[in-house]
Amino acid sequence: MAACSRASLAFLFLLFGFSVAKEIVVGGKTDAWKIPSSESDSLNQWAERSRFQVGDYLVWKYDGGKDSVLQVSKDDYANCNISNPIKKYDDGNTKVELDRPGAFYFISGANGHCEKGQKFVVVVMTPRNRHMGISPAPSPAEFEGPSAAPSPTSSATALQGGLMVVGGTLAMWVF
Ligand SMILES: *[C@@H]1O[C@H](CO)[C@@H](O)[C@H](O)[C@H]1NC(C)=O
Repeated sequence: MAACSRASLAFLFLLFGFSVAKEIVVGGKTDAWKIPSSESDSLNQWAERSRFQVGDYLVWKYDGGKDSVLQVSKDDYANCNISNPIKKYDDGNTKVELDRPGAFYFISGANGHCEKGQKFVVVVMTPRNRHMGISPAPSPAEFEGPSAAPSPTSSATALQGGLMVVGGTLAMWVF
């Protein structure tokens, strides 16, 4: 009995307290850790379209003999400085937990790759951001409300007007 209610409590916590941690493949596909072919193909474009929450994992798949993943400071990210990473991964199958809110900076450790755009920033939302992220959703509906409301009225008015025209035409025919 006690175990049962504890289980249902845990279930409720899962539903309302936490979202399930995701494993997010960097770039959305397995061969994405490379020099981008164009600006629109860049990993920052991908990162801006994606949502990252505390507890999610980033996953990289690449040839560990040829490339690596460096987690670096903001300055080293900006300067593509590979000499002093916070963390370095070169196992070809890298998994990094996004264990706090805020920015994470990643660059390629391969010579010259960062300079050619193989880098990206991930911004992990705080729980407050997450609520802010959800709250804009109802507002388009609120906007739709007033703008959608007049159309049934106006079409009803148009229908009424149409009927009056038909009525008027009929009256002209009859009299
Ligand atoms: C890269 O970082 C190291 C250590 O922080 C620093 O000594 C070096 O001057 C930096 N190199 C460049 C080119 O900024």
